[in-house]
Amino acid sequence: MADRPPRLEGKVAIVTGAGSSGDGVGNGKAASILFAREGAKVLLVDFQEDRARETLRIIQEEGGVASTLQGDMTKIEDCERMAQTAIERYGRVDILDNNVGISQRGTVVEVSEEDWDRVMTVNLKTIMLASKATIPHIIASGGGGAIINISSIAGLRAHSSTPYTTSKAGVIGLTFSMAADHAADNIRVNAIAPGLVYTPMVAPRMNDDLRQYRTEAAPLKTEGTGWDVGYAALFLASDEARWITGICLPVDAGLTAVHPGTFTPMSQQTRY
Ligand SMILES: NC(=O)c1ccc[n+]([C@@H]2O[C@H](COP(=O)([O-])OP(=O)(O)OC[C@H]3O[C@@H](n4cnc5c(N)ncnc54)[C@H](O)[C@@H]3O)[C@@H](O)[C@H]2O)c1
Repeated sequence: MADRPPRLEGKVAIVTGAGSSGDGVGNGKAASILFAREGAKVLLVDFQEDRARETLRIIQEEGGVASTLQGDMTKIEDCERMAQTAIERYGRVDILDNNVGISQRGTVVEVSEEDWDRVMTVNLKTIMLASKATIPHIIASGGGGAIINISSIAGLRAHSSTPYTTSKAGVIGLTFSMAADHAADNIRVNAIAPGLVYTPMVAPRMNDDLRQYRTEAAPLKTEGTGWDVGYAALFLASDEARWITGICLPVDAGLTAVHPGTFTPMSQQTRY
């Protein structure tokens, strides 16, 4: 088999929320490492820069090229500084992975206005702001581009977390609209809807029973990780996806493909 060139050779990528909120590898960290492994120069942006530095350490150990930047994606001035920094350090921008997101449970009755506004700002407005700041630089770089917006299967159906679901459904609508708006600029815009993946973001709320229940809830019955989401982002970022724009790709072991009444987890099946 002939060696192939790295899939993102010559590209510059920005990943927002490039650290992980705890030990282990989350979606943003995995995407950052995989982008660098495939030849991209990666700007690792996080409002807690020490988290991005941990991602940088892993990339540098593997011989990849990356650097960190402290930035809060809820602020347009930080988003503009982010895009400018990518140009100053690496000369161009091709890929933007809008990964920042937080969870928020509750019904409309339970959620406070403050928490509602916060989750809409962090999960949805950050994508608009980071994209607003970066798209002109992608266009100026002259090679087209790829934007990946991290949604959730919670944006496809109810998930006992109405504020989160609403924000993540908004991410999908924003993705469709951005894909249509920027196709003429040769910028592809796609969303990923991760399923019940086990990442540092959810680990504090998990115990062994809950992990097993989540694992068995979907047809493939294996536990998903940040790497599964990262590999999907890598594909959508690469030229292999050159004909794909305006989609929302579930990465969920088949969970959203089945009706709950027609699928029984292995542990609840009678075995003969
Ligand atoms: N883990 C799951 O089960 C799951 C499922 C579906 C969707 N998602 C989505 O995946 C995305 C994140 O996944 P992750 O595993 O990388 O999460 P994570 O919490 O481990 O990492 C997110 C990083 O974003 C940073 N961050 C938060 N707000 C920021 C801001 N305003 N500006 C800059 N950085 C900020 C945090 O410091 C953190 O390091 C989110 O959009 C989340 O909603 C996760």
